Amino acid sequence: MSEFLRPIVRPRRLRTSAAMRDLVAETSLRPSQLILPAFVREGASEPTPIGSMPGVVQHSRDSLRKAAVEAAEAGLKGIMLFGVPVTKDAVGSGATDPEGILNVAIADVVAEVGDALVVMGDLCLDEFTDHGHCGVLDATGRVDNDATLERYADMAVVQARAGAGLVGPSGMMDGQVAVIRDALDAAGFTETGILAYSAKYASAYYGPFREAVDSSLQGDRRTYQQDGRRNANEGVREALLDIEEGADIVMVKPALAYLDVLRRVADAARELGVPTAAYNISGEYSMLEAAAANGWIDREPAILETLTSIHRAGADMILTYWATEAAGLLR
Ligand code: PBG
Repeated sequence: MSEFLRPIVRPRRLRTSAAMRDLVAETSLRPSQLILPAFVREGASEPTPIGSMPGVVQHSRDSLRKAAVEAAEAGLKGIMLFGVPVTKDAVGSGATDPEGILNVAIADVVAEVGDALVVMGDLCLDEFTDHGHCGVLDATGRVDNDATLERYADMAVVQARAGAGLVGPSGMMDGQVAVIRDALDAAGFTETGILAYSAKYASAYYGPFREAVDSSLQGDRRTYQQDGRRNANEGVREALLDIEEGADIVMVKPALAYLDVLRRVADAARELGVPTAAYNISGEYSMLEAAAANGWIDREPAILETLTSIHRAGADMILTYWATEAAGLLR
């Protein structure tokens, strides 16, 4: 009999029972590491389902408050809000109107849950502009970086005044974190933090989000978001720049097609004492939901496998549309 038929090293011993597997688990994802992204629609009296994201809705102000309470009860610690305004214009005026939907929603949620959740505002103009771009346009129709920074500075202060604990600049303008930090400090909001969408790629996986926010975008965002296929070093550079500019947390987005970038950003940020977030985005949600609805994959284990992969790749926290449900599954 071959000596090789009797292995000396048997890794299977550590897989023999559920208790043994739990004992040796290297990674443990906790509900407190999940953040719920939520949409709120101006003037809505009922939540409106989003066709391409089964299970996700555009909230009314009331239903958003309830969702925030449920999120807190499930053990989440954060909620990221997106506004869906009724009227849009070239400069995205609704974003800096204290009565604008996103700003009133931030105040609503803060009033409802207090300190139980960190309330975050997506800081970007795309939901508010009639052209759908993340910034204001110059005379030639290109997104004007520095003119946009002025809008972001104002938007940050309005969100902070509404009670946001973290603002989330997601427009990929150069220098956005520095200008926001400066504006917040000058207005006395030295304790309002910045969760920077640092390595944000122009991705095909944003598709369902466009429906979620009634986006008016024609074309794409490739002159400001990063190349959606080819650049990883650049993502690390963007994150390091944001840290220098004062980001409190950096984020990689999307998550699944960029787990290598996430690993590298998380390693670099950790050296500097900065936590890393990842955004498990709309298209990542929808493709799993679609496969599950067809009976092609087992939904709940697939959700946990997906979220755990993002955590294992280095994310200290994850924005995911499954946050509240997944918190229940993780208990
Ligand atoms: C910009 C923003 C987007 C997402 C979050 N913030 C859209 C974009 O950059 O095109 C996408 C989130 C998702 O797809 O789930 N405001």
